[in-house]
Amino acid sequence: MTDDHLVDAAPQDDDAQYDAGLRPRTLDEYIGQDRVRENLEVSIAAARQRAEALDHVLLFGPPGLGKTTLAYVIGNELGVPVRATSGPVLEKPGDLAAMLTALQPREVLFIDEIHRMSPVIEEILYPALEDFELDILIGQGPSARSVKVPLQPFTLIGATTRAGLLTSPLRARFGITHRLDFYQDLDLTEIVTRSARILGVETEPGATEEIARRSRGTPRIANRLLRRIRDFAEVRADGVITSDVCHRALELLEVDAHGFDEADRRLLRTIIDKFGGGPVGLNSLAAAIGEEKDAIEDIYEPYLIQIGFLDRTPRGRVATARAYDYFGLMAPGKDRLW
Ligand code: ADE
Repeated sequence: MTDDHLVDAAPQDDDAQYDAGLRPRTLDEYIGQDRVRENLEVSIAAARQRAEALDHVLLFGPPGLGKTTLAYVIGNELGVPVRATSGPVLEKPGDLAAMLTALQPREVLFIDEIHRMSPVIEEILYPALEDFELDILIGQGPSARSVKVPLQPFTLIGATTRAGLLTSPLRARFGITHRLDFYQDLDLTEIVTRSARILGVETEPGATEEIARRSRGTPRIANRLLRRIRDFAEVRADGVITSDVCHRALELLEVDAHGFDEADRRLLRTIIDKFGGGPVGLNSLAAAIGEEKDAIEDIYEPYLIQIGFLDRTPRGRVATARAYDYFGLMAPGKDRLW
């Protein structure tokens, strides 16, 4: 694996373990996403006061922004355990039924990548969410009959990178829906400072700000960069992350001033060089850079769009004048005097 892969936003199996010690456990410890946090504070306090299960919660947004973290924070604030699974893992109806029937009152069931659940599984979930009831079909053919199994009132927390991929009946069953946005540099600086304290590594303020600026608004990337820079500081310096150490480490990692890595640059360069700046369809782009369409839509595009380097138009993706500027090129059709 190259260093690029260590600092990209791709979901990785070891993330839970990787970030375990750095994850906030309470809403107070959770930095940023102020509107979401405040709304959740109210919803959770109300559910606790009424001694009811919290309404079902849907969290959506690009990878690495803390959807899973927030699910565990919610469980912790409710004072109940979180039983976690994910859409693609739930293969057979029995898989979900087993989890649902094991839930104790007011516990949390967390389903990551909930948009990847199969339709069969989704059908089982509907009555469970609405009436806390399982409809189980026993037997086959003419003698088959349906049995209703009562469930304890519980809270489903679903997480997805794209709420648009959820079927509308499923989306309609969530009483609380929140979108997580890319983090402000100030919030990311606070997250990096907090993580450095937990990791026991000394940092200069200028360095934490630099890491925040280059993390594409994403705490997971910020925490990964911090770990890689800590490695560099320990091996190539005296262990302190100074601004100078930080710059040298980031240069070695090939993370530039915008936090782009090789994959981001390749995507933009391909649109500019091979497709005349666009518009180019997602299929052609995916084939040209050898990436999955989902990875482009979920991981690379959202931030490039957010900072104005890429436009998504009805006819395809377009590199903006800012993207041309970044590579020292002149955008087509723009006569400039300098
Ligand atoms: N680590 C990762 N995300 C975080 C957040 N939002 N607040 C505090 N620490 C974090």
